[in-house]
Amino acid sequence: MLLFREKVPAEWLPKMMADLPAVLVDHAHLERKAATSALNLEKYRDLYGRVEELNAIAIEELQHFQLVLNLLKRRGIPFGQPHASPWIGGLMKSVRGGERFQVIDHLICASLIEGRSCEKFQFLAEALKEKDADLSNFYASLVESEGNHYATYLLMAKEIDENETDRRLDFYLDLDAKLIRQPNESAILH
Ligand SMILES: [Fe+2]
Ligand SMILES: [Fe+2]
Repeated sequence: MLLFREKVPAEWLPKMMADLPAVLVDHAHLERKAATSALNLEKYRDLYGRVEELNAIAIEELQHFQLVLNLLKRRGIPFGQPHASPWIGGLMKSVRGGERFQVIDHLICASLIEGRSCEKFQFLAEALKEKDADLSNFYASLVESEGNHYATYLLMAKEIDENETDRRLDFYLDLDAKLIRQPNESAILH
């Protein structure tokens, strides 16, 4: 169901496994940003009719954020600073201005972020099975929700303008493929 044109680089998973506390702090911020992103989408005229759906996503992301904070507390990991993601930054930098263009690009970016999260949480759930069953189950429990967000945002864009969404999706899938290959120093999910 995910449309990505490039695999998550092989070095990503070992880097995550080597610094799980940092990954969890980054994950907490990712869920926080996902909640604000759902709320930010409510500013677009084309999405006024979807405001309750977007609120529901924001609430779900806020719950995910709280679940990660609970995990941090249980594990004695202090909440820390967010790290900028060059991948997310690169996608968002290409959001065009203009009423129709902006909402479609923003929705596609939000969709791809959710889609990559869905994919990466699956990898983490699988890799953590033996090493950390508790964390493995936690990541597995988020996969469906992030996959639904991926699909919901993409459908929202298509309902605004299907042809424009397909054109921009083609552009963004190429951009994602290019950006995801760039190496990351820190143990961040994206
Ligand atoms: Fe989430
Ligand atoms: Fe999500």
